[in-house]
Amino acid sequence: MQAINPYFSDSHQFAYMTNRRKFLQSSVVGAAALHAACRSEAQSPTAIIRPAVISTWNHGIPANAAAWEILKSGGKAIDAVEAGVRVTESDPTGQSVGVGGRPDMNGNVTLDACIMNEKGDCGSVAYLQNIEHPITVARQVMEETPHVMLVGDGALQFALEKGHPEINLLTEKSKADWEAWMKSERKVLPKINVENHDTIGLVALDSHGDLSGACTTSGAAWKLPGRVGDSPIIGAGLYVDNEVGAATATGWGEAVMRAVGCFLVVELMRQGNTPQRACELTVERVISKNPDWRDIQVGFIALGKNGEYGGYCIQPGFDYAVYRPDIENQLIKSGSRV
Ligand code: GLY
Repeated sequence: MQAINPYFSDSHQFAYMTNRRKFLQSSVVGAAALHAACRSEAQSPTAIIRPAVISTWNHGIPANAAAWEILKSGGKAIDAVEAGVRVTESDPTGQSVGVGGRPDMNGNVTLDACIMNEKGDCGSVAYLQNIEHPITVARQVMEETPHVMLVGDGALQFALEKGHPEINLLTEKSKADWEAWMKSERKVLPKINVENHDTIGLVALDSHGDLSGACTTSGAAWKLPGRVGDSPIIGAGLYVDNEVGAATATGWGEAVMRAVGCFLVVELMRQGNTPQRACELTVERVISKNPDWRDIQVGFIALGKNGEYGGYCIQPGFDYAVYRPDIENQLIKSGSRV
């Protein structure tokens, strides 16, 4: 009989059971194929399933795949999270991250990103223009400077000194969308789940038991020039505590910042809540701090030290990608408050 996992709430219990069944079937014929670095035990409150990687939206599938290439052979979570989100940053069809991102109201694409490792070290860039991989610049800030955050021209100067080429991030598609917006009513509050906002946040647990996370975005479409969202703000768009877990956010960054969302998710996990419950409680906090919550989307995903995951959001339509030894890179429909 299939066991119900008490740690998984109904929003992904079904996916867990289906995937566990698939996993058990495939382990009979293919257990030897699993890399020795992949540790997997029956899910129970004390089980550890690792490595594991989760990330926001369906662009999380290719990002997870790149991260998994590193994790499956015993690589470090910090390398995996950077490699994962770099895939999304380079994809010109994604209009919310990196190349092809929707611009601000002046037509400039400006990027925000941050990264955090198992030691609690972190790096961040904001309002960075003309650079394909803000996540790598953020990692260089973390590893090669005494600072946590560089913004604007200073971040660009730093990136150029580190050898990043300057490129045009505005694709014809995003330029055309911006031109259409210029001819419209020019609303700054973007459309839910379309422009509001499909950041990639990705967190990973490696086979050594260490956690890391990365978050990168072009921010809200048509934002005021100079606007920075939650994604490069440590504690808002991303937080990692190697004793507890990791969390990342997507959606309307202003609302996430008001609740210091990802720090709260991790602190709720520290208090004994599952990743799923911690995300649900944090969405309630966001709602309580944002009277306009019916007009916005905010979502959180979280990964525990034992490989357990969760996700929750305000509005329907958010999904996230999960890759573990027992779940081969699947998109999970997030539970939602509405
Ligand atoms: N969550 C991304 C942003 O608001 O910029």
